[in-house]
Amino acid sequence: MSPSHIYRLSLLIILASLTLNVWVEGCKATPVKTVVKNGVSFSRDIQPVFDAKCVNCHRSTNARAGLVLESGAAYRDLVNVVSEQSALPLVTPGDAEKSYLLDKVKGTHATKGGRGGLMPPASPLPQEQLDLIARWIAEGASDN
Ligand code: HEC
Repeated sequence: MSPSHIYRLSLLIILASLTLNVWVEGCKATPVKTVVKNGVSFSRDIQPVFDAKCVNCHRSTNARAGLVLESGAAYRDLVNVVSEQSALPLVTPGDAEKSYLLDKVKGTHATKGGRGGLMPPASPLPQEQLDLIARWIAEGASDN
């Protein structure tokens, strides 16, 4: 083989391995799509947390901080509604950092100009439920 043949052959090999790499990366990306498809559902994943842990104090007949978290009312009372305690909305679709609800259940509300206690008082939500609320907001806080 002449030096120019070897040169062309190595170019070809580099090109082929780059193509293969792009293809392999493309395959790796598939599971991410699955996660989005099976996204968090407000009615299936979030409302049951409110029902079990919040409606004792946040129900229409006795709404602490004016917030009702009962089924049928919670979404309307949370999404794009400004908090009583801070300048932030309770839920900003797609922006967990600007969602005071998440700060109240994580206990970071004081860092956002808020006041009062952690929710629910004296019994923090498990990490799994905090993650669900954060993901629901990040995925666009749909009424789904
Ligand atoms: C034992 C009663 C009680 C329970 C249970 C409770 N809350 Fe509260 N919540 C309050 C009270 C009282 C306030 C106002 C004082 C404070 O913030 O500490 C409040 C305030 C809030 C606020 C602030 C509202 C605003 O407009 O700024 C949010 C958000 C909130 N609660 C969410 C929740 C969530 C979510 C749950 C369940 C995971 C929950 N709370 C469970 C009593 C409760």
